Amino acid sequence: MSEKKIVLVTGATGGLGTAMCKKLYDDGFIVVANYRNEEKAREWKEKLHQEGYDIAIYYADVADYDSCGKMIEQITKDLGTVDVLVNNAGITKDGAFRKMTPENWKAVISTNLDSVFNCTRHVINPMIEKGFGRIINISSVNGQRGQFGQANYSAAKAGMHGFSKTLAMEVANKGITVNTISPGYIGTDMVMAVKEEIRNQIIAQIPMGRLGGTEEVAYLVSFLASSHASFITGANLSINGGQHVY
Ligand code: CAA
Repeated sequence: MSEKKIVLVTGATGGLGTAMCKKLYDDGFIVVANYRNEEKAREWKEKLHQEGYDIAIYYADVADYDSCGKMIEQITKDLGTVDVLVNNAGITKDGAFRKMTPENWKAVISTNLDSVFNCTRHVINPMIEKGFGRIINISSVNGQRGQFGQANYSAAKAGMHGFSKTLAMEVANKGITVNTISPGYIGTDMVMAVKEEIRNQIIAQIPMGRLGGTEEVAYLVSFLASSHASFITGANLSINGGQHVY
């Protein structure tokens, strides 16, 4: 890569986000990490610093359009325009639909789906002006199929790919690619929070018989961010150990 690209990873302090930040850094990107929880982020930055990673961290509530705008304005002032945006921030509020509250519906839709609009809207025009950009949306196998207890999450994750497909078409001739990655069950805190008995039932449905590793997803993110992936756009790349094939 001739010139270092700036990549912004939202929800960077989680398991997947951390692995992505490290891999992107190792691959020569200037990595910027978004966080929401101040205390967790400070500890995270310190830990990564000790491991040799120099990563700037910026606050934004990705569910809030103006908060994302402020963050991206500050990053642009401090470092330059964002070349690669990884929309990775996400939460779960699982529960059978018949018991799902409007609050748990809205929280998941706004953090997992509105966030994609909120962040992408602020980086897209500078990318168009530059003639280069990468938008990488981290969806889920449960957006491709369904999952008991995840009506909110599946809806948001499926929506992310609808967004990717349309934006990919709109900016294909501007040097910008827009893609979705749909990880299956990866060994993150989010998956480990599922009751052990249920988690074991899920693992039994994965032909590879194991959870995915965070690095396995991070490699794909870094590849999509690279110049080698310049003809891939509007795609939904599965990475799920064979759990959902179609
Ligand atoms: N299939 C069919 N029926 C099921 C079921 C299933 N998988 N799970 C529960 N049920 C049934 C129960 O037996 C119960 O039946 P009765 O009413 O007849 O007794 C009924 O559905 C309701 O069960 P609960 O009261 O236990 O339901 P709940 O609202 O508490 O929700 C749950 C249960 C928390 C959703 C639990 O099923 C669960 O944890 N499921 C896993 C969800 C999951 O995979 N989350 C992934 C998180 S990680 C992630 O999202 C990352 C990623 O992208 C992959």
